[in-house]
Amino acid sequence: MSFVEYEELIKEGDTAIIFLGHGSMFPVQVQRGAQTQTKYGVIRHSAHLIGQPFGSRVTCSKGGWVYVLHPTPELWTLNLPHRTQILYSTDISIITMMLELKPGSIVCESGTGSGSLSHAIIRTVAPTGHLHTVEFHQQRAQKAEEEFREHRVDRWVTVRNQDVCKNGFGVSHVADAVFLDIPSPWEAIGHAKDALKVEGGRLCSFSPCIEQVQRTCQALTEHGFIEVTTLEILLREYNVRTANLPMPDLGGALDPLPVLGEAQFKIGVPLKETVGHTGYLTFASKNLF
Ligand SMILES: C[S@@+](CC[C@H](N)C(=O)[O-])C[C@H]1O[C@@H](n2cnc3c(N)ncnc32)[C@H](O)[C@@H]1O
Repeated sequence: MSFVEYEELIKEGDTAIIFLGHGSMFPVQVQRGAQTQTKYGVIRHSAHLIGQPFGSRVTCSKGGWVYVLHPTPELWTLNLPHRTQILYSTDISIITMMLELKPGSIVCESGTGSGSLSHAIIRTVAPTGHLHTVEFHQQRAQKAEEEFREHRVDRWVTVRNQDVCKNGFGVSHVADAVFLDIPSPWEAIGHAKDALKVEGGRLCSFSPCIEQVQRTCQALTEHGFIEVTTLEILLREYNVRTANLPMPDLGGALDPLPVLGEAQFKIGVPLKETVGHTGYLTFASKNLF
């Protein structure tokens, strides 16, 4: 497996997602001889995982079962070890579209953080594109590199351990798109402009606070970026349920008589905990002239 190419059978070294039930899953690194404990009992990697197709239902030692899923960037985002605050798939989907990412795109990103967005970018730009990602925290940069190797996507990404505001992205005039998720993005706009191709490209900056957005928009305008737009995406999820509604007893005065008892309806109920504000997304284009 890799996070970019689908493979049918689970093999040693793969990352697999163990799905226990609604909203309950975790990743495992498949290793010959290794065991993983779940509330349904033990999963023995050699017997239960290696050689089985992704998507298999695996019976654990206590008789309960789990599904073993092929990894995707979306599943990784929900299961990755957090080393920082991360971006989730709702923001990532609009970032991917508004940055016009596609196979072959060259993208610059900072900071790498926990690599949630990085995995999604890599999947989109492969097999001919590349991600240049910059992280100034040494351990985070190192851990991200390790994960990219484990997930067999390292050929599509270069991690640089440097301060993007001081030293930029380490590349010049190659990028189709730049993405920023750092506390002071306005200090990196000049470097973003330099990283983007001479003929232009797209930029996105993610910031939780409106004051950060104001300073970033100011810097974008000063550096000649155009089409500056800020937006926020809010997701509302629904549970689809069957509701039983009692029919009212209208005293039998109506003709024809209504059927008494219960009526069943399918209804959509918004989840109680709606996701709140994550951040503002500011997009801009580098002008050709
Ligand atoms: C919120 S996290 C990014 C999360 C990432 N977008 C994800 O989806 O996992 C911000 C990261 O930027 C890094 N960072 C902050 N300022 C930086 C700078 N000037 N240069 C490079 N990295 C920086 C931090 O160390 C942190 O890891």
